[in-house]
Amino acid sequence: MSKAKLTFDGEEYEFPVVEGSEGEVGIDVAKLRGATGAVSLDPGYGNTGSCQSSITFIDGEKGILRYRGYPIEELAEKVSFEEVIHLLVYGELPTQSELDELKEKLNEYAVIDEGIKDVLNGLPRTAHPMAMLSTAMSALETYYSTTGSSDEDILRVIAGTNTLAAYIYRYKEELPYVSPSKDLGVASNFLHMMYGRPDEDPDVDEVVAEAIDKLLTLHADHEQNCSTSTVRMVGSAHASLYASIAAGVGALSGPLHGGANQAVLEMLQNIQDDDGDLEKYVELAKDKSSEFRLMGFGHRVYKNFDPRARILKKSADEVLGALGKDDPLLDIARNLEQVALEDEFFVKRRLYPNVDFYSGIIYRALEIPTEMFTVMFALGRVSGWVSQWHEMRNDPAFRIHRPRQIYIGENGRSVQPISERGE
Ligand code: SDX
Repeated sequence: MSKAKLTFDGEEYEFPVVEGSEGEVGIDVAKLRGATGAVSLDPGYGNTGSCQSSITFIDGEKGILRYRGYPIEELAEKVSFEEVIHLLVYGELPTQSELDELKEKLNEYAVIDEGIKDVLNGLPRTAHPMAMLSTAMSALETYYSTTGSSDEDILRVIAGTNTLAAYIYRYKEELPYVSPSKDLGVASNFLHMMYGRPDEDPDVDEVVAEAIDKLLTLHADHEQNCSTSTVRMVGSAHASLYASIAAGVGALSGPLHGGANQAVLEMLQNIQDDDGDLEKYVELAKDKSSEFRLMGFGHRVYKNFDPRARILKKSADEVLGALGKDDPLLDIARNLEQVALEDEFFVKRRLYPNVDFYSGIIYRALEIPTEMFTVMFALGRVSGWVSQWHEMRNDPAFRIHRPRQIYIGENGRSVQPISERGE
């Protein structure tokens, strides 16, 4: 399969075909406009590959997700988030000495300039944490502006996001900032900075830390999703890594994307307040005249179960059990999933629970405030964003991203003096 043929306007054209290592096939249309005068049109890019990547593979039909070839199910069970960071950024799981060195650097770079606290202190405490995170990420560049391609930049952005997230929580809660410990892993350090005391040694619940570690791994990367594509887009202009990540935070905040985990919890709470009337919300989600969607359901790529949702559904049980907690919202979520998966509307459209459907239940059990859920998503995804950004910047085929369009506006016309433009 080496060529794709196109017959257009009485002419026949051939375009090369690219086949990936998992058998995915792409028609290379890089020369389409030059050859035919026409551009491809694919609003939402549902049929368009923006790049060739070696980082993450998704098979949406089979519900497969792998980071650098390793199945997400194995990574979630067998390795730490720090090992996943090494895998995504450098391409391989680390040896023990590589892991020790990475942990040391992450702890070094978790310490960020004190000036950032003045930036946060200037923001309204009521602002959404994602708006604060993108502001603080942009501000980080003013303290550490370099090309963005150094190992320090990579690890400072990952470790710094962790610190920023905890600082944002402390600022919103009017609590004193807690500095990062130099002896803790990413998940434990986050919890220490979130819930610790500035004058006390860290005292982190291992069950909670392990659950956070797994959540960070599950959210770490997901090929060319909206926020990752945003990071690549901004980075393609040779903008800094910090500016690119700040833009990614903005994209992730949208309720159709990472913001969905917060929206799911709010939806479940509304159902609970509405006497658990599941049918009402399922019918509302099917009603085209309503804006309401079943949050945490559906996916552009997965037309089967999102493998992360499977893992999180099981993990929700384990975490609540380990913490001796019972959450009626988990029962509502399970029943809602059951009702939807038996409903023709969802079955026909192949709408299944996605990563955001159960994650909020776990964050709630871990006593993470609902408003911080999407920040938690960003804590994992920042490692994927950084890895994808670097892959793009080191790609020999690298060009600034500049899509075309089909213009459908007014044809050429000349300016009339305002006196002749009517009343
Ligand atoms: C994430 O891309 C990624 O990889 C993202 C992510 C990652 O890790 O980066 O996986 C993280 O963003 C997960 C998705 C979280 N968002 C939500 O849970 C919000 C609710 N979901 C939907 O808004 C929607 O399913 C999207 C945004 C996720 C996907 O949208 P698409 O691919 O554009 O699908 P669509 O809007 O074209 O829907 C197809 C049909 C439509 O009905 P018809 O026009 O065919 O009649 O399905 C319907 C939609 O109305 N539909 C839903 C629905 N999702 C799609 N109807 C009700 N409830 C829903 N949730």
